[in-house]
Amino acid sequence: MQILLLNGPNLNLLGTREPDIYGALTLDDVVQRVTDAAMVRGATVRAVQSNSEGALVDALHDARTWADGVIFNPGAYTHTSIALRDAIAGTGLRVVEIHLSNIHAREEFRHTSLLAPVCVGQISGFGWRGYLLALEALLPE
Ligand code: DQA
Repeated sequence: MQILLLNGPNLNLLGTREPDIYGALTLDDVVQRVTDAAMVRGATVRAVQSNSEGALVDALHDARTWADGVIFNPGAYTHTSIALRDAIAGTGLRVVEIHLSNIHAREEFRHTSLLAPVCVGQISGFGWRGYLLALEALLPE
């Protein structure tokens, strides 16, 4: 199993960005924990982070040729991006949408995900552990 761990805008700031909402771990810490958990299960992880919507679309297109599943925190693009929705639908990749915070308990503009309907499922509100839950959801039973 090869997993793309894809993170969108501002997630490169994890650790210093509003830690009361997003936690104290850096993105490198999160990537390491997911990589370690995947290794135990015989899976490998490739991590990509970008602040730009087009680069995220490109990463999904590229993953078509090698990834068995995608763990995706689209950041704010969750709530706005038809392009990312089309990329997920168009590639046919198995994508789990993940959010550190509970987007449904926050501002109203965060309650809607344009991507969730074309994802396998959504995990929201469990901090960095949500990434491990997303990994578990993609691996075979
Ligand atoms: C987020 C939630 C989004 O609403 C926000 O724009 C983010 C992070 C999360 O992980 O909780 O950048 O995706």
